[in-house]
Amino acid sequence: MELPPRPKLFDFHGVSMTNYFTDNWDNVQNFQARPDDILIATYPKAGTTWVSYILDLLYFVQTAPERQRPIFEKVPFLELLIPLYPPGVEVLDNLTTSPRLIKTHLPVQLLPKSFWEQNCRIVYVARNAKDNAVSYFHFDRMNQAEPEPGDWNNYLQRFMDGKMVFGSWYDHVTGWWEKKQTHSKILYLFYEDMVEDTGRELDRLCSFLGLSPSAEEKEMVKGGVQFDIMKKNSMANYSTNPVMDFKISPFMRKGKVGDWKNHFTVAQSEQFDEDYKKKMENTQLRFRTTI
Ligand code: PPS
Repeated sequence: MELPPRPKLFDFHGVSMTNYFTDNWDNVQNFQARPDDILIATYPKAGTTWVSYILDLLYFVQTAPERQRPIFEKVPFLELLIPLYPPGVEVLDNLTTSPRLIKTHLPVQLLPKSFWEQNCRIVYVARNAKDNAVSYFHFDRMNQAEPEPGDWNNYLQRFMDGKMVFGSWYDHVTGWWEKKQTHSKILYLFYEDMVEDTGRELDRLCSFLGLSPSAEEKEMVKGGVQFDIMKKNSMANYSTNPVMDFKISPFMRKGKVGDWKNHFTVAQSEQFDEDYKKKMENTQLRFRTTI
């Protein structure tokens, strides 16, 4: 089945969005979180699937092979409403696992209030702006459900202007960072830290979630979530997702810190850095663009 033509961006409560994430808005806002839900919140392309798969293995590793399903079905996407799939909210309402693992890309101010009322644990993952922009560009090229990306130069300008699905990267990462300062149930992870030392970040995750896996279990999780292993794993690599064209670009593309250097010209990088300083001058949040 084919999707309609690529969607258009529009302003939604001050955030650029497409209809695939706003058409179910009342149901999304009225979503009833449960106290043991675990929310994985990210700006798109920051490491959502990686953390989702880590959590899936930590909680549900014993699932029999014949009951395995793709990660995008096991960790439903809260605000998604797209032809081909049942709405994220409906899938979640019918999910009987405990905990439920839930994916969202919503900026902090648009999160349904029941997550705060139920005091759910939230794992936020952030990735440096330059690699995030590059990853998003390739994703938008291959995904029919995203607006037409255009050429890289225009795309980068749009990224800097916050005219991307789910809005401004700058507002997203700083919004969640500020919330974390006063809310103890948010763990703020960095993609770069995960690449640098997956085991260390896995320990941080476990300690946040109150899990104490054995050394063997940890090794198993660490091994299973390596980029090359996940890239080959059809349950984790989105290869069964019909809206994506892997001939244009695979979902599991490079999985690196610093790939931006292969895309940004020197002039683009300088202009980006200058603009970045202004946009991020009021936050203590710091990213690494190389490790
Ligand atoms: S989405 O569509 O927002 O859910 O995408 P998301 O999962 O957040 O981001 C996809 C990028 O994460 C990379 N990725 C990984 N990197 C390192 N190790 C592992 N295991 C891993 N799994 C996913 C994926 O390759 C995308 O980044 P790029 O830079 O495009 O390769």
